[in-house]
Amino acid sequence: MMNIRKAVFPVAGMGTRFLPATKACPKEMLPVVDKPLIQYAVEEAIEAGITDMIFVTSWTKRPIEDHFDSNFELEYKLEQAGKKELLECVRAIIPDHVNCFYVRQKEALGLGHAVLCARDIVGDEPFAVLLADDLIYSHQESALTTMAQLASQRSSSVVAVETVPESQVSQYGVIDPVNGPDEEQTYQLKGIVEKPKAEDAPSNLSVVGRYILTPKIFELLAQTQKGRGGEIQLTDAIAALLAHESVFAHQFDGIRYDCGSKLGHMKANVEFAMRHPELKETFHSYLHELLRQVKV
Ligand code: UTP
Repeated sequence: MMNIRKAVFPVAGMGTRFLPATKACPKEMLPVVDKPLIQYAVEEAIEAGITDMIFVTSWTKRPIEDHFDSNFELEYKLEQAGKKELLECVRAIIPDHVNCFYVRQKEALGLGHAVLCARDIVGDEPFAVLLADDLIYSHQESALTTMAQLASQRSSSVVAVETVPESQVSQYGVIDPVNGPDEEQTYQLKGIVEKPKAEDAPSNLSVVGRYILTPKIFELLAQTQKGRGGEIQLTDAIAALLAHESVFAHQFDGIRYDCGSKLGHMKANVEFAMRHPELKETFHSYLHELLRQVKV
């Protein structure tokens, strides 16, 4: 398989779990410390060598377009004020070699439908899909970089998975692996199912929001009927893909935060602040002090 050049960011969901914050502000613009979720996802794609970022948006998502556009007035003011570091940080959001494209999903018909909206821009080549509300912290190479390499070596689609407690499998897409993981922590799939009941789940390996997909998926998405929750599910199209091609699941090395949920977002903020070069010392002392007070 050729190198992965394009990434699709489905950002057209309603973010109902985070209301009222997400009524007028896209969920993907919620910050973790000082960066919006979508910027972390774009940075992960850039690290994986991707140059074309395709955002599938809806009517409340204008701030995402503005975030990745240049803001002449702001840059001018920062320059005049001699705030070089801030100017650099604003300019570095999108490096010069990276292009952004926007396509609208007119109705929130599901993740599968959102990915299908990017078909004409992606064309006939393998591509990545990143769900920005799954924020992944990696110690070394990012999850997507490893997955892009695996997909190229195996000329196949690769989805990211992690183990979850049995009580939570009904919230996720779950894979049915052929057998145990190989030396690259990767499983071959014989099935995949969206939000199964705990007793029907084929494994406790749940799909996380990172995918490398072959373009065959578009043909299958176009034929996919509404599934779980009345939505066109990407999981169902991947299940159909298995009849044509091998599909793999990579158990990535990193920590995933479900930032579409309030608790997951809080955890991400605390842990990213504890790692943040500017904040970590004062934040550690603050937490320490807070816990000491709580105990008293
Ligand atoms: P979620 O299941 O998290 O849905 O979608 P949501 O609407 O964003 O959030 P909740 O559950 O109501 O709180 C998974 C991903 O798919 C995108 C979302 O933006 C999110 O990144 N998506 C979902 C779309 O782009 N379009 C859709 O029709 C549905």
